[in-house]
Amino acid sequence: MHIQHYLQFKDLNADEYGYLFQRAAFIKQKFKAFEKHQPFADPDRTLALIFEKASTRTRVSFEAGMYQLGGSVVHLTTGDSQLGRSEPIEDSAKVISRMVDLVMIRTYEQAKLESFAAHSRVPVINGLTNEFHPCQILTDLFTLAEHRPAASGLPLDAIRGKVVAWVGDGNNMANTWLQAAELLGFTVHVSTPSGYEVDPVLAGIANRNCYKVFKNPREACAGADLVTTDVWTSMGFEAENEVRRTAFAQWCVDESMMAAAKPDALFMHCLPAHRGEEVMAEVIDGPQSVVWDEAENRMHAQKALMEYLLLGRL
Ligand code: CP
Ligand code: NVA
Repeated sequence: MHIQHYLQFKDLNADEYGYLFQRAAFIKQKFKAFEKHQPFADPDRTLALIFEKASTRTRVSFEAGMYQLGGSVVHLTTGDSQLGRSEPIEDSAKVISRMVDLVMIRTYEQAKLESFAAHSRVPVINGLTNEFHPCQILTDLFTLAEHRPAASGLPLDAIRGKVVAWVGDGNNMANTWLQAAELLGFTVHVSTPSGYEVDPVLAGIANRNCYKVFKNPREACAGADLVTTDVWTSMGFEAENEVRRTAFAQWCVDESMMAAAKPDALFMHCLPAHRGEEVMAEVIDGPQSVVWDEAENRMHAQKALMEYLLLGRL
């Protein structure tokens, strides 16, 4: 039996994203109106949340989201489960997936997530790996379409042709942006310090026309519809902290970069943010920033995703 996992952005196609963005808007509107929406209540569905790295947004959005959908949640971490005592990931997958309906994992190597999925009886969602963060880009694109809707009202039309400036590390977020750009037809202007470039092979893209590389981050922001960045040091790379602080000093989104972008450009950051490092307070706390809507939308977008993986189109 085919199981639809969500391990990287390209696991779903453009048509499915079109559906998910519209469904997320519908689910969000119900939440705002205090209307129950409980497709997982009867029969009750259970989500296992497995965290091998820290989280605030991912945990709260999945956990609150699953309860609101009428389901329930089991929360596991490396420290409080046999995952931290070397039980093989394949064995963990076989056991956990016999007892729950859906699994979300945040871990280190994408290969580990893929091993789990290969031995799972139920859909597996990537809650962040060293290589990808698809739930975040799903949300960021939903947020972009919400704030800058197309005349047609179709979210995919709002996204197609846009320019997204990526300022910072060629990391899991950057890789996922590239996959999304290739799939949904927009362009990413990427500016990273040398030594931290994106790798199209690692990002898993076939068409290099979906991104352009800029040495100067200000030039990457020129004409952008959205400027976005992330921490200089991702989880798991803390040993490189000092070296990165020096290398990334010029890759701080400031007001001059926002001024280079389109006048109505948005600023996003997946959070957690470090003001004065990758972004200045004037930008993240300024009028073009939509980071709080972006964070909230994790829950609405992931509710649509979980519903789709378990129940298909409703
Ligand atoms: N953006 C994001 O994934 O946040 P957390 O690390 O807090 O889950
Ligand atoms: N790139 C960051 C994102 C955190 C949500 C990390 O992997 O730590």
